[in-house]
Amino acid sequence: MEKNIVHIVPQVEVKVIECGPLRIGGHIRILLPDGTVLVKRRTFICRCGRSKRGIFCDGSHAL
Ligand code: FES
Repeated sequence: MEKNIVHIVPQVEVKVIECGPLRIGGHIRILLPDGTVLVKRRTFICRCGRSKRGIFCDGSHAL
């Protein structure tokens, strides 16, 4: 049996979508700068800066 090896079962998965957002799957809590707390099971975070929905992807990256 292996010693000193910790087997971690990931509870959150982050997928980098090529030329698109980060898809985050799993139960997550998002803390916004204004103090708002959002709890989500799956979300898409904008990486292109064009979204009209703040940090969340609205599909504008594909335009
Ligand atoms: S990644 Fe989709 S709008 Fe920015």
